[in-house]
Amino acid sequence: MLKNKVILIIGGSGLIGTKLVKAIYENGAIVIVGDKINNNDNNHEFFYLDITSEDDINKCILFIENKYSKLDAVVNLAYPRNKNHGNHFFDVSYTDFCENVNLHLGGYFLVLKLFSKYFLKQGYGNIISFSSIYGFLTPRFEIYQGTNMTVPVEYSASKSAIIHLTKYVAKYLKNKNIRVNCISPGGILDKQPEIFIEKYNKNCLNKGMLYTEDIVGTVLFLLSDNSKYINGQNIIIDDGFSL
Ligand SMILES: NC(=O)c1ccc[n+]([C@@H]2O[C@H](COP(=O)([O-])OP(=O)(O)OC[C@H]3O[C@@H](n4cnc5c(N)ncnc54)[C@H](O)[C@@H]3O)[C@@H](O)[C@H]2O)c1
Repeated sequence: MLKNKVILIIGGSGLIGTKLVKAIYENGAIVIVGDKINNNDNNHEFFYLDITSEDDINKCILFIENKYSKLDAVVNLAYPRNKNHGNHFFDVSYTDFCENVNLHLGGYFLVLKLFSKYFLKQGYGNIISFSSIYGFLTPRFEIYQGTNMTVPVEYSASKSAIIHLTKYVAKYLKNKNIRVNCISPGGILDKQPEIFIEKYNKNCLNKGMLYTEDIVGTVLFLLSDNSKYINGQNIIIDDGFSL
């Protein structure tokens, strides 16, 4: 499906990323992982990359250009945050809000900008960013009651802007043969408290919270030529949670 395609996965060492890297590799692509940590096996090239550093991203582009002479697609699922990320609304300081939005939204902006520039020069390209259901859905605070979890305000602010940035950049690149889409997953099972999972699942249509594997097929589709004319879209994978 992805034979001979060169694909960079930024944030490829995380929960969803490691599964994605494996699946993309198994579908025939050459995979480069761009991350601040290396969690994958040796089948993949690893390049240290911080999405908030213009210099890191430019070095990565240069490395890929020199070694592979092309880049077919970049998938960005990095999740930068500071140590105070995830506090309840009234406990979020102005400084932490700004820092987290800078890291997350600012980083996604940089990836979009610098890879668009490279793809423009190359004549084609494909960019997939990760947003979340909480990028377009008002928080369901009630399902978090009885846990120490919440929907972080800085997360909603960043993820909603990533959906809009996706459309902005897709349109900016009209007639340039570059696709720009984003994916909004629902909650992924990751040792959340049982009380939360139960309430979360009641909002879903069939399965409930998803496994990381449930995200992979949509990314493969967006990376393939089967989705040639899907551009500027936000694809929701949430078993109907947001309905
Ligand atoms: N897990 C979920 O339930 C869920 C649901 C909806 C959306 N998402 C989104 O999917 C994406 C992946 O989520 P995840 O659960 O795999 O996250 P994760 O925290 O497990 O992995 C994120 C990866 O990003 C890397 N990273 C952090 N800061 C970085 C930076 N500045 N530069 C480069 N890499 C950096 C980390 O090292 C890590 O490998 C995120 O954007 C997240 O918001 C996740």
